[in-house]
Amino acid sequence: MSQHLSEAPESAARTEEGVRAESEIRADWWREAVIYQVYPRSFADGNGDGMGDLPGITVRLPYLRDLGVDAVWLSPFYASPQADAGYDVTDYRAVDPMFGTLTDADDLVREAHALGLRVIVDVVPNHCSDQHEWFKQALREGPGSPLRERFHFRPGRGEHGELPPNDWESIFGGPAWTRTVGPDGTAGEWYLHLFAPEQPDFNWEHRAVHDEFRSVLRFWLDLGIDGFRVDVAHGLVKADGLPDIGHSEQLALLGTAPMPYFDQDGVHEVYRDWRRVLDEYPGDRIAVAEAWTPTIDRAARYLRPDELHQAFNFEYLTTPWDAGELRAVVDRSLRAMGAVGAPATWVLSNHDVTRHATRFGNPPGAGTQLREAGDRELGLRRARAATLLMLALPGSAYLYQGEELGLPDVTDLPDEVRQDPSFFRASGQDGFRDGCRVPIPWSGTEPPYGFGPRPGGPSWLPQPSQWAGLSVEAQTGDPASTLELYRAALALRRSHPALGAGTAVTWLDAPDGVLAFRRDAADGSGVVCAVNLTGAPAALSVPGRMLLRSDAAVSAVSGGHRVEGSFTMGDTIAADTAVWWAV
Ligand code: NOJ
Repeated sequence: MSQHLSEAPESAARTEEGVRAESEIRADWWREAVIYQVYPRSFADGNGDGMGDLPGITVRLPYLRDLGVDAVWLSPFYASPQADAGYDVTDYRAVDPMFGTLTDADDLVREAHALGLRVIVDVVPNHCSDQHEWFKQALREGPGSPLRERFHFRPGRGEHGELPPNDWESIFGGPAWTRTVGPDGTAGEWYLHLFAPEQPDFNWEHRAVHDEFRSVLRFWLDLGIDGFRVDVAHGLVKADGLPDIGHSEQLALLGTAPMPYFDQDGVHEVYRDWRRVLDEYPGDRIAVAEAWTPTIDRAARYLRPDELHQAFNFEYLTTPWDAGELRAVVDRSLRAMGAVGAPATWVLSNHDVTRHATRFGNPPGAGTQLREAGDRELGLRRARAATLLMLALPGSAYLYQGEELGLPDVTDLPDEVRQDPSFFRASGQDGFRDGCRVPIPWSGTEPPYGFGPRPGGPSWLPQPSQWAGLSVEAQTGDPASTLELYRAALALRRSHPALGAGTAVTWLDAPDGVLAFRRDAADGSGVVCAVNLTGAPAALSVPGRMLLRSDAAVSAVSGGHRVEGSFTMGDTIAADTAVWWAV
C-alpha cells in the first residue's frame, strides 16, 4: 500500500506571517547561498607545476557559474611554508608564490564578480606560522620580551622546566606545547600550539593581535572580497590561567565536552568587533565560523545579530545515514539558528573529512577520516540522495569541490605521498585528510586529467588511474551523471520560490525510515522532498509534478530541468533515493 504524504500532526503550522517573513529575508544573499569550497592546491593548476593556483581557478570560474553556485570559498592561498597546507600563515596580506600573486587574487575576484559569483576567503586568526615575523622576533628576543606576549609562552613545569606548562594535547596529536631552544642550545620556555608545532597560537588578550586582524580583514575587504571563513573560530580565547584538563585522550572529548581552549565566552567580543568592521563595507560582507562546539546551540551563539553570519553545521555533517537522526538534526539546527535569526547551513564534505560518497558507503560510526573505500555504489547512491535532501533544506549549503562529480576519497594513497601533518604526529587520530584533497579531474583519459595543462604532467597528490570517467568532460551532457544531477538541482533551487532561504520545514507523515517534508513559498507554490532511508523500496504517493530524483537521469528542457521517464502517484521510491516534487 502506498502511503499518502500528508502534514504530520506535530509539525509547526505555517502562518501567513511565517511565510511572509521567509520571503522578506531572501533579500540577504547569504541566507540562501550555495557556497562552493575551492581547495586551491587541488582545483586547477595553471602553470603546470603540479600544484593548483589562482590563475587556474580564475580560468575555471565559468564552470562554477554554470554549475549554479552563488559563491566560492577559497581555502588559504597566503604566504606559508605549508606545514599545514597553508593554515600556517607567514604573511596574511601576501599570496604564496606557489599560488600566484596579489594581482592574480585581484583578477580572480574581479572575474568572479563579473560572472555574478561572490568570493569568500579564509582567515586564520587562532595561530600563524612559526616563520611569521612576529614569532621569529619573539623567539629572538627571549623570555620576558613584550614581543612574546603576542603568543602563549610559559616556563615549563618540573624541576628544570622540562615538563609542558599544562596537560593540553594538540589536535594533531602529542602535547600542545613545544619547548624553545636558545641560540646557545639551552632549552627555554614553551609555546602553545593547538595544532602543529609550526602553528603557534596567538594570544588574543593582546591588543596588537586585535589590531592586526582588524587590519587584515580590511585589507581583503578593500580588495573586494565578500566575506571570510574563520578558521578555528572557537579557539581564539583560552580560559584564564590555562588550566589543566585532567584527562589524556582529549581528542575524544572534542566537540562534546567543554574545553579550556575552545568556545570560551570571551571569544564573542572578538566577533562583535569584526562585525563592526564588516558592516563598514557596502554589499553584505559576511563571515562564517568554523566552530566545533559541543552543541548546535553553542554554535548559534556565534551568530547572534551583532556577531558572525553563519557557522558550518558540523553536527549535520557527522550525522549518519539514518532517518531519525537526520530529522532530529534538521529540527535542532532550524530551532537553534532560528532563535538567533541566523540561517541554518548544511554541509556534507570539506577538506578535513572523508568525502561523503565514501563515508556513506562505510558502516555508520566509522568516523570522518576513513581508509576504507567501502561500498562505492551504495556510497554514491546515498551521496546523490543526501545532496537532494541538503539542497531542499532551508538556508545555505556548502559544497566541497569534486562532490558534484561524485568523487570518492582516495583511500589507498601510499604513505610516502601523504602530506597531512596530523598523519606524521598521529596519535589518537588517523590523520587521513589527504584522501579528500586529491586534485580533481577535468578532462582527458590519463592523469592529471586536465588538472594541469600537460597530459602526463605532475599533480601534488597522485590521482587514481580510474578517474577518467569521473571528469567534468566525461560527465557533462550525460544525463545519468552526478554532475548533471547537481546542475539540475542547483538550477531548480535557484528558480523555485519554495527552495533556498527559510526557517522551517513542514514534516509530512511517511513510513518509518522515510523522511518527507514540504517547503512553501509565499506565492502558494511548494516543493516536497522525500528520502528513502529504509534500505528497501518504499511506496509513497504525492500529489505533484516530479521535479528531480536522485536515482534517475535528468535531461534539460527549455527553462529548466525535468526527469526522464514518468513517476506517478502510487510509484515506489527505491532505497537510498531522494525525490523532489512541485506541489
Ligand atoms: C581547520 C582547517 O580546516 C584545517 O584544515 C586546519 O588544519 C586547522 N583548522 C588548523 O588551522
